Amino acid sequence: MDNPYVFITRKIPNEILTELKELAEVSMWEYDDKPVSRERLLEEAQKATALLTMLSDPVDKALMDHAPKLKVIANLAVGYDNIDIEAATNAEIVICNTPDVLTDTTADLAFGLLMATARKITEAERFIRDGKWVNWSPFLLAGYDIHHKTIGIVGMGRIGETVARRATGFEMNIQYYNRSRKKTAEESLGASYVSFDDLLRTSDFVVNLTPLTAETKGLFNYEAFQKMKKDAIFINVGRGGSVVEKDLVAALENKEIVAAGLDVFTEEPISASDPLLSHPNTVCLPHIGSSSIETRMEMCRLAVRNIVKVVKGEEPETPVNKRAFR
Ligand code: DGY
Repeated sequence: MDNPYVFITRKIPNEILTELKELAEVSMWEYDDKPVSRERLLEEAQKATALLTMLSDPVDKALMDHAPKLKVIANLAVGYDNIDIEAATNAEIVICNTPDVLTDTTADLAFGLLMATARKITEAERFIRDGKWVNWSPFLLAGYDIHHKTIGIVGMGRIGETVARRATGFEMNIQYYNRSRKKTAEESLGASYVSFDDLLRTSDFVVNLTPLTAETKGLFNYEAFQKMKKDAIFINVGRGGSVVEKDLVAALENKEIVAAGLDVFTEEPISASDPLLSHPNTVCLPHIGSSSIETRMEMCRLAVRNIVKVVKGEEPETPVNKRAFR
């Protein structure tokens, strides 16, 4: 591989790039808070051996068709629904993600969002800052208990199991739905495997942690919300595309469920005028599931290590389409 060239689509700390810079010419999009333009990404992809991309960068066939030297794309996320994996595999471009390093941090956020939604923490904080706290009263900002309730986890991958472990601390009854059974989670966490419908019907908290695939797209539609308990709380830390958002708004309006905590949206960033943001019973976060300083640094390090390995002709640590690596 002569003169490898690496393009990074967001500004990340330079200290992480020392080894990579010894092996390749590295250039970076100038901003950490603004996405790379499509035009610049196409231009860079044309000459790049490797790209380090964000989950917000669409990486499609058109891009790969114009990237003759591209060997690896390291996506800074565990999810990779922004990338056309089939096109990448056909083009022998290996795609890498950042699993494991973000598991605990994302589970912490999922559980924090569940708590904030159930106990109205963000609403209460706005209330006091707005000078509305003039009296104590018995049902002031009364939310819902978390302990001893039933949590239903949809998508029992590594993050799902870790959320379940958090739930044991609250002595919750844990049930899950997943494509395959997780016997170890059943044995070590006391989680019960139930059908999707049973989970919807019997959970106090329905927590979505599935990746976005053809199977999970639009999984949470009006019918699904209707099956939930009237006082169910829906939490989404998976992907926005798994939810039909207008159905979620209608379900909240019609009191099919009581509240929703959302870290992910179909369109990100969500428009400030979106009804999900103005609804009194939602807690909305700007996709910060894995966003702790420690974890984001680890994700950057892992993404860079994957590129270093491919540049050296070695197998990367966390490929998602191994077949593409020859
Ligand atoms: C991921 O890595 O896919 C998460 O959504 C980040 O929070």
